[in-house]
Amino acid sequence: MTAFFLIIVITMLVLFALYAKRSKSDFPESLIMQHSPIKIGHRGASGYCPENTMASYKKAIELGADFLEVDIHLSKDDVLVVHHDPTLDRTTNGKGNLRDYTAAELKELDAGSWYHSRYKNERIPLLREVLENFGSEVGILIELKHPSAYPGIEEKLAEELGKFQECSTSKNKIMVHSFDMESMKRFHQLMPDIQVGVLIKRRINDQKLKEIAEFASFLNPKQTILSTKLQMRIQKHGMKVFTWTVNNKKQIHMFKMMQVDGIISDFPDYFLD
Ligand code: G3P
Ligand code: CA
Repeated sequence: MTAFFLIIVITMLVLFALYAKRSKSDFPESLIMQHSPIKIGHRGASGYCPENTMASYKKAIELGADFLEVDIHLSKDDVLVVHHDPTLDRTTNGKGNLRDYTAAELKELDAGSWYHSRYKNERIPLLREVLENFGSEVGILIELKHPSAYPGIEEKLAEELGKFQECSTSKNKIMVHSFDMESMKRFHQLMPDIQVGVLIKRRINDQKLKEIAEFASFLNPKQTILSTKLQMRIQKHGMKVFTWTVNNKKQIHMFKMMQVDGIISDFPDYFLD
């Protein structure tokens, strides 16, 4: 009886060991516990609306985004405004550098007609307007564009977020990232409670990863350089991974299976499949 019992136990142990040894990819997807990365609407829902406009943010929320990704610059009178390019020509009827215009002058511009005439009333949003209008509904992922061109922009952002957080209940739903590691380090010193990340589009060595991990909560690689190996290296350093900009449903699915922490896309509805 004891021998029989032992044989059963050993058989079960062997079967379990074989089962555990199989790689995750051997399993049908339906058996893998569903992983839901954070859905981040790139410049809102810029696949459907003029990027970085209130219309684009509303659409992203409607389509189920958890976070809005928002690019920021400083106007001539040092107001934080939401826009992607440092120049106005591509997405507004203005000309030249955004930095040469006051916030009031920027507000005069049409930021929607370049996309479609039905968006002719869209304006360049102020960061404050985005926070006030959407900050209680969804998370906001703020990207500092070219911060070295705007000395003091980190302080300005800390001041703005400080004001917003005072009258907000959603304290944990703001994150900040940039390609500029030094800028993120500075911002982290000013507001250690807000999670920061560093964007990368090229390979990174372990020394750099270690340096970034000292202040950053996430490291966000361009999708074309993200492999399982890189993901594991980033996570080993204690950081999360948000990849960008993924506009293909199959790739979104693949990154979901890889269990990345967040995916940035122009099409927040592509996550549903
Ligand atoms: O969120 C990452 C991505 O937005 C960085 O590139 O040029 O679209 O701002 P870009
Ligand atoms: Ca961006």
